[in-house]
Amino acid sequence: MPTTITNLLPASGKGFFDTRRYTRVADRLLKELGAFEYGLSVVLVDDQRIQALNRQYRNRDSTTNVLSFPFNEGAQAALAGLPVQELGDIFISLETAAREAQTLGCSVRQRVSWLLVHGLLHLLGYDHERSSEDHRIMAEKEQELLSRINDRRGNIMTRLAINVDHIATIRQARGISEPDPVAAAAICELAGAAGIVVHLREDRRHIQDRDVFLLRETIKTKMNLEMGANEEIIKIALEVGPDLVTLVPEKRQELTTEGGLDLLAQKEKIGKVIDTMQSSAIPVSLFLDPEPKQIAAAAELGATFVELHTGRYADAATDQEQDEEFLLLESAADYALSLGLRVNAGHGLNYQNAADIAALEAVEELSIGHAIIARAALSGLEKAVRDMREIVETAVFDL
Ligand code: PXP
Repeated sequence: MPTTITNLLPASGKGFFDTRRYTRVADRLLKELGAFEYGLSVVLVDDQRIQALNRQYRNRDSTTNVLSFPFNEGAQAALAGLPVQELGDIFISLETAAREAQTLGCSVRQRVSWLLVHGLLHLLGYDHERSSEDHRIMAEKEQELLSRINDRRGNIMTRLAINVDHIATIRQARGISEPDPVAAAAICELAGAAGIVVHLREDRRHIQDRDVFLLRETIKTKMNLEMGANEEIIKIALEVGPDLVTLVPEKRQELTTEGGLDLLAQKEKIGKVIDTMQSSAIPVSLFLDPEPKQIAAAAELGATFVELHTGRYADAATDQEQDEEFLLLESAADYALSLGLRVNAGHGLNYQNAADIAALEAVEELSIGHAIIARAALSGLEKAVRDMREIVETAVFDL
């Protein structure tokens, strides 16, 4: 049951706080504590409100940083049998948290995460005020939880692979030779991309056979060839020998890949492609919606990777819908890892939504195309205009 975070700060303070980030921190904490099926309410308040609560419920007329109110405390015994499992409420004063962050030399975000951990442990019965031994136990538990949620990825950084299809889209719009995705791939690598992705579509609407063969020669990192399970393309893939083949469903009429593969409907066909590729030492990734049945089928078929389709997450119309899709992706990624699959993710990721997916422990690599090429077009436009102005405005008739 996801955490609900209520922001009761006065209007001037509200905008400062990314409540959804803390919903995710709190949800992760609940998972770490094995209490994910419990509801938790976190209320963000100012000093005035937390002082009033402190006065009313604890007889202490002073501000404080965090107050926890367990749901079952003092409740009738009958409540314990309720089907609703609620841990209780945590109130956090953001004003105090910000002051403490300054004194401690940490970020407000780090301080609030600590306060969340502290408040949650109080709800679970830990109490540092009971004795010095309780103080030690609670402090140790706090440290352990904080390092678990902070270090879930360890030192392993998520890699960024760039899809350069849309450089080819611009080229194909004119049917000439530029911009060249081969040159674009080299620039992406210079900027630190960990891999280059291209989708050789049956209709050759952007990437051409020539691109794929040349890219095989020029890519210094990893070449990920996206493709439908189509005989003609399979032949090309075997000839090219990419570092990874990502199988995607492909429909001629679609604007872009619209959904994940339905493995249950085409186990045999996909299984054969995996075997063919693997016998040429080409590992296969399957592009899947975050659905456990599909992931289990991918493991059964012997895929090396799954690439989780982040499109529904990226296109979600509301925050709530996006949070739901995020949870599906998170558990699908963990599930895939638990079955021995390696995990990539992509589609529709942009500068606003990529970080949360990149932070998932199980995800090794993101494949991002459109958002990066779109930003390149706009961020490079000013220089492109200046360069052309220079030519046009300094031109003289030269005899
Ligand atoms: N992954 C797969 C399997 C895709 O088909 C695409 C789109 O070509 C991407 C990632 C990249 O998506 P986007 O261009 O939206 O970043």
